Amino acid sequence: MGSSAGSPAGSKRSSRSDSMAGAAPRSSPVGKLSPPGITDEAPAQEHLGLLHGDAVIEPGGSDEEGEFSPSEYDSASISDQSDSTSLGSSIYDHSYVNGRRYHRYRHGRYPIPNDEAEQNREDMLHTMMLEATDGKLFYAPIGDHPQKILDLGTGTGLWAIEMGDRYPSAEVLGLDLSPIQPSWVPPNVKFLIDDVEAEWLNGDNWDFVHLRNMIPVMKDPVALLKQAYDNIKPGGWVEIQDVDGDVHTDDDTVPDDWPLKRFTEVMLEAFAKFGTNAHAAVFGGQYLAEAGFVNIQHNYIKLPYGTWPKDKIMRLVGMYYRTACEEFFPAMGAIHFPMLGWEKTEMEIFFMQCRQAMRDPTVHAYGKMHFWSGQKPYDAD
Ligand SMILES: C[S@@+](CC[C@H](N)C(=O)[O-])C[C@H]1O[C@@H](n2cnc3c(N)ncnc32)[C@H](O)[C@@H]1O
Repeated sequence: MGSSAGSPAGSKRSSRSDSMAGAAPRSSPVGKLSPPGITDEAPAQEHLGLLHGDAVIEPGGSDEEGEFSPSEYDSASISDQSDSTSLGSSIYDHSYVNGRRYHRYRHGRYPIPNDEAEQNREDMLHTMMLEATDGKLFYAPIGDHPQKILDLGTGTGLWAIEMGDRYPSAEVLGLDLSPIQPSWVPPNVKFLIDDVEAEWLNGDNWDFVHLRNMIPVMKDPVALLKQAYDNIKPGGWVEIQDVDGDVHTDDDTVPDDWPLKRFTEVMLEAFAKFGTNAHAAVFGGQYLAEAGFVNIQHNYIKLPYGTWPKDKIMRLVGMYYRTACEEFFPAMGAIHFPMLGWEKTEMEIFFMQCRQAMRDPTVHAYGKMHFWSGQKPYDAD
């Protein structure tokens, strides 16, 4: 979650914490950055989930150990997982830095680990997303019978697998730099190893192209979305889903020196060194418009940093999100923090402060997950 490199020229960021005391936000600060025609409205008949941007999160939750057993989404989503495949090609090799494992194919392209710890974290985030959206996998109005679905940067492939289950007549392809997808998957789901920012070699006529937690690690999001545009059917859709890498509050309870705020600033700086923008989610609508998409729609959900909400589902989502953050600290501690000159002890103390901060029930902080979708015009060439 960081920025600078890749921020569209002339864009202005809003303040770090959104103060919306008492009132549910009707439109997010990103609306100000959106080109004409972009709407924050989702189709009226949709049930958008408890944590949709319109929701006011009431505080009052506490941190009770063992409160949650695995959610209904856990068993369904994660049981399909198997270890990484062991085919003998060099694209199945890995490299190691500070005890963490990384992809070998196009080595260095993605500086976040691909080891079991990170795969488990990704799977947990997938479960968290299902809870937070009431089981939705996307918001784009793709209709009931998509035939070709592409997931760019599929990770452990859970989103693609669930799409394959929900749309049995569709062909679903997941692409990733890392060979970390299970081998037992529905017959209509396939995974390939590829750099999605390289020349597009992955077929055309897609009904739906999806990217989740990807845009902040892309060097040139607009170029990637243009390639998607060229290979989507006229009338087809793209959707990007990303957190904006910021700390938000609706009631001004986040202190300026809250450790997680500092964490997001370090992340911004570190991602920029890799030529990517940790705040890229904010610019999703702009990127889609620049790539040629129309009918651009925007939704967001709130992801509480911890178990401060009163509502039990919100608290569960907060527990997942806090755990995902905590498990991300050592991933960032392997390459990004040392690259910026942090010593091991200094990092450990700082990560401990971050962990403690997310256990303070008086701080009502949340992250924002943005969903941007856009359509290729029917009359496109
Ligand atoms: C944060 S994970 C998200 C995984 C998945 N989309 C999800 O939401 O569960 C990002 C994934 O993108 C992959 N990735 C990053 N850069 C890539 C690139 N240039 N080409 C293909 N995959 C890439 C990484 O290997 C990683 O699996």
